[in-house]
Parts: sequence; C-alpha cells; structure tokens
Amino acid sequence: MAKKTVPNDSTEASLAVHWKEEEVYAPATSFIAQANLADPGVFDRFSEKNFPECYKEYADLLTWYKYWEKTLDTSNPPFWKWFVGGELNACYNCVDRHLAQNRNKAALHFVPEPEQEGIQHITYQELWVRVNEFAALLQDFCGLKRGDRVTLHLPMTAELPITMLACARLGVIHSQVFSGFSGQACGERVADSTSRVLITMDAYYRGGTLLDHKKGADLAYEKAQELKAPPEKVLVWQRYPGKYSSPTPMVKGRDVAVNEILPKYRGHRVEPERMKSTDTLFLMYTSGSTGKPKAIQHGTGGYLAYVTGTSKYIQDIHPEDVYWCMADIGWITGHSYIVYGPLALCASSVIYEGVPTYPDAGRPWRIAEELGVNIFHTSPTAIRALRRAGDDIPKKYNYHFKHMTTVGEPIEPEVWRWFHRVVGKGEAVVVDTWWQTETGGFLCSTVPALMSMKPGSAGPGLPGIYPVVYDDEGIELPAGAGKAGNICIRNPWPGLMQSIWGDPDRMVSTYFQRYCKNKNSKDWRDWPYFAGDGAVFAQDGYFRILGRIDDVINVAGHRLGTKELESAALTVEEVAEAAVVPVPDEVKGRVPELYVALKPGHKASPALAEKISKALVAHIGPIAKPKHVWIVPDMPKTRSGKIMRRVLAAISTGGITGDITTLANPDVVELIRKTVQG
Ligand code: WTA
Repeated sequence: MAKKTVPNDSTEASLAVHWKEEEVYAPATSFIAQANLADPGVFDRFSEKNFPECYKEYADLLTWYKYWEKTLDTSNPPFWKWFVGGELNACYNCVDRHLAQNRNKAALHFVPEPEQEGIQHITYQELWVRVNEFAALLQDFCGLKRGDRVTLHLPMTAELPITMLACARLGVIHSQVFSGFSGQACGERVADSTSRVLITMDAYYRGGTLLDHKKGADLAYEKAQELKAPPEKVLVWQRYPGKYSSPTPMVKGRDVAVNEILPKYRGHRVEPERMKSTDTLFLMYTSGSTGKPKAIQHGTGGYLAYVTGTSKYIQDIHPEDVYWCMADIGWITGHSYIVYGPLALCASSVIYEGVPTYPDAGRPWRIAEELGVNIFHTSPTAIRALRRAGDDIPKKYNYHFKHMTTVGEPIEPEVWRWFHRVVGKGEAVVVDTWWQTETGGFLCSTVPALMSMKPGSAGPGLPGIYPVVYDDEGIELPAGAGKAGNICIRNPWPGLMQSIWGDPDRMVSTYFQRYCKNKNSKDWRDWPYFAGDGAVFAQDGYFRILGRIDDVINVAGHRLGTKELESAALTVEEVAEAAVVPVPDEVKGRVPELYVALKPGHKASPALAEKISKALVAHIGPIAKPKHVWIVPDMPKTRSGKIMRRVLAAISTGGITGDITTLANPDVVELIRKTVQG
C-alpha cells in the first residue's frame, strides 16, 4: 500500500465542488396553459404544516373499496404505513375503472423492434380481457393466491404489463427481473423470493436478432434448484403466439406454453382481490455497493397513490396524451412510469421492444411521429447515444414533444442542452427527476409549469418531499453552502419502500441508521432517509445530484464526483462519451483516469487527448488532471446501456475484469485492453 503523504483535512462531506451555475430556462407558455399543475398554492398545501394529510390529494386520485382511517401510521419506525385501513386493487385502478368512459382508448402501444412488424394497439377493453384470462390461468392452472410470489423474466412486450396486472388482480406479488439479466441472476431471485412460478418468454428482438430467451429460464431453474427453492412451474409466453421461437426445448412436466392453454380460459373473468393498502404489490431487486441484491418491497395504496400523483403532476399526463417512457419495465422506472402511474391515469403508454438506435438513430422519432407521442421519458445514457449520431436526425421527423424527462443518472449540462434544443426542438419542457428503486417515485424535480429548468440540476424536492443535505457529522449544509454532502429526505412519503424482503433489518441499517437522531423515537422527524447519493444544495433551492457516494474519487483528500469530471470532458466538441475511473497514486491516494469515445468523423490523436485533459483542468482545476486520457472505440456497456466503470477500472489497474459476458458489447473490452496495456 502506498503511504498517504497528503494530509486528509477535508471531512467526507466537505467535497470540493466546482460546478459553475448554469443559466436557467423557462417553460413555454403553451405548456403552462394546459398543465395539470399550474397552481403555486401546491407548495403551501404540501408544506410541513399540512403533512401527512396533504397526501390525501394523491390517494383521492384512486378508487378505493374502503376509504382509509389513518393517513400515516408511525408506530413502528421506520416501517411507515400509509392509508391504513384502506382497501383497493391496483389492477382495478389501472384497468377496470377506465372501461365505462374509455374502453376503446389505447392503453398500450406495443412497438416490436422489427419495423415491418407494425405496432399493436391494445385498448383498455382488450387489456381487461387479456388480464382477466391470464389471471384465471394463474389462479386455476397454477393455484396461485393472494400473497404468493412469482418471478417474471419478461422482455419488453405487452405480455409483461399484462402479467404484472394479472398478478396484481389476484394479490400475487410479482418480482420482474430485467430480461437482460442472466438466467443465474434470475434464479437467485426466484429462490430469494421463494417464487412458486417463473414466467418467461421464448424469444425477443434486440439489435436485429431474435434472441433465445427461454434458455435463461433453464439456467434460472437450475440455479434456484441448487439454492433448494425451484419454482413449481415455468410458464413460457410465445413472442409469436401459436409458434415456439426458441431453439431450447420445453421441459416436460415443468414448462408450460401459455399461449397453448390460454384458450381454455377464453371468456373467464376474475374479481379483483380487495387488497389492504399495506399489502405488498411487488418486489424489485436492486444492488447496493456491497452484499447480495436486495428485494425492495413496495406496498399497494401508498405506492399507487404516489406514482399516480407524480405521473399526473410531474409527468403532466392527461388522458389524451401519448406517453412514451423508453426505460425497461424491468427497472423501477418502468414499473412506476410505464405501467402503474400512466395506466392509473388512463393514459396511452408506449412499450418499445428493442434498442433505441435500431436500425438507425431515427427510430425513436419515427415511433414518436407514427403514434403522436407528446411526452417522452428517457435516460442520459440514451440521450448521449442519440447525440452521438448527430443533430440532423430529429429535425427530419415531424413530431412534437410538450414534455420530456431525464432519469437515472446525473445529466451533463452539455447533454441536457442538446436534449432540450435538438430532441425537444426547443419547445418541450424538461424535468430531471431524481429518485431510486427504494423511493417508488420521484423525489426531486422541478414542477414543470411552475419552475424554471436548470441544466444538470434535478431541482427542489417535490411537493411533500423535504430533502436535506448533511455533512458527515450530521450537520445540515444550508442552501448555497458550496459544499456537497449526503442528500437525505427528512420525512416519510407514500412511495417509500415498505421493507426489504426477508431482511427488514437491512432496510434500517442501510437507509435509516446513518442519521437517526433517536432510535426509540416514534416521531418521523428523528428518522431521515439516507439515499446514498452526494448532492449540492444551491442558493436557489435546487439540488444537483453528484451520483452515488461510492462513485466519488478522492484525489488528495478532495472528493471529486466522477460525473463532474465526465461533464468537463463532454464540453470538448469531439467527445461523445466519457467515463472516469480511479487509479491508485503514490502521492495523491487516487487519481482519475479518463476514457472517452469520440463522435463519428473524429480521429484519436495525442493532441486531442491533451485538449481533453486540459478541459478537465480548466473546468475543475489541476487536481482533476487525469493520469491518462484513453481514446477508445466504444465504452463497455451493460444491456441497459450503463457504462461499466468497473471493467475500465480493472483495465486501468491491470486487475481482473470479472464477468463480462453480460455486457452488450463484450468484444470491445479486448480492444480497450490492447490500447491501454499494449
Ligand atoms: C441515480 C432509478 C442524478 C442516483 C430511478 C440514484 C440520478 C440511483 C437521477 C438510483 C437523476 C437517478 N440525477 N442521479 N435525475 N436519477 N439517479 O434505483 O445515483 O435504478 O441513487 O432508480 O440513480 O437508481 P435506481
């Protein structure tokens, strides 16, 4: 180990912050004129003096079998309970209740990746029929009942929300595992949740290839069996109903082709279960920095109220809008903001099967044009990929977005401005929504009609969310302190997870122990929620999220956010993508190394590397000078498009890259290694 020769006089949270203040943008008056939430009185209604009763406004957007007696029960901190005594069904709220007025309206537009296949439009009536018939199958053929768990390993097809809603109708807890995850990862989750059934699909399209997905189910089964918790059955949907599209054989006595037995349930209807508000709706696995993935457990009443309210007021979804969130339903964004929130509002929600840039970067805009999409929701990673293809493409298509969302990671201001100017054609309002799997719905964002937008900043807490930035000692950093710290939420809110499945103590230790003021207190004010992200609280009340606390590089006692460095690299014209990794340094502890991929038409050269290095120094200071700037053909990426910094870090330090088989582009790893290690 290198000896530390530089005194570390900065506390954990006294980060060096070098962001410059960005210019703000005002929402268009045409947007304000039609917005669901244009009344500034909302901030008073949702202020602390009206907490928790303010959340009645969200819960009243739902249809309840039985109204709740207690809005918030804090008797067992920090396991908060919302709308206690209330009864409702999530499927009823997302489907049945819309039939009277809107049965002929499209609920889902399923867009297959192969363009010649055409788009399927599923009305609320058809959704209701399909959900009922599949629920009847789950109940009768699988014997599933209230409280049972099932694991879904489904791709982005209409069958995924149909399966989720059928489960919700029966009170069965669904746990959807991202289809890009391996069979083994799926099997671990089957076992951890003791799922009685695994539901998968034979095949799906990705990047022009019909992938064999069924083989993942075999691996999942094997893994779950090894963990002594195999599912009773494996249900296999067919990508093309009536035709089995996988080369992997069905296993007799275990595997069942859904589309073969579904006709038996034609015309069957299943009454929705009357669920308690506090009953669990679904599990969603997420990774922390250490340990095995945690199954985040979300409830029914609180969760559904929160995602419905935020879909209405932050996403500004009206029943007549066409809404497209390009996330995968295998992540929380898809659960909350493709399925539950939008459908509860009777929106038309788009589901796209494949890669956004397939067969070319014009695809999203052709989809938007064909369907008349006017609300578009995506991630910085996708935006950067589209930006790489150039400015001219969105212009060619006649679509108009009134509203756009970015979510999932901090967005570099350069990329934000591109999104606003080029994708949004300068017309769309943009919200940068900060939240997590654990939080169920948005935490920080601007209210689109009421606040100006600031590139790179999520904004203040949503109405009813009271964020705070603490330093390591738990001292509150006031607005404009110019220091970063740990962002926390002071109060409970209805979307917050209920627990971690099978490990409630882990919820307390991971999210509430850090800043708990009194472990014996039943007052929520003593239990701030610790999000694990670094943030800066600006003078104007906006929060700028720096990323996970463990994404921070400590250079000579200065903690530099990787995003901060990457944003600086992206100010260089030629740069399309940038990733920073820490490498050990004798003197400074750690120093950043920078990987960049260029926009098409630019060539790597020492002069360009030097220019990029200088940009970091210019934006942040000499402390940010990268040890090397590696110009590489592409970044190693996960199937969901996140850059795998872990792989780059291993290459930089000559370490082991670990499992790279789950990457979207494993071949690029060898190319990068050659560049770096010679
Ligand atoms: C990051 C995704 C900056 C953050 C909804 C958080 C963001 C983690 C933003 C959660 C944003 C999400 N700006 N960072 N707008 N949104 N993050 O659980 O580090 O997949 O803790 O939920 O993503 O990721 P998760």
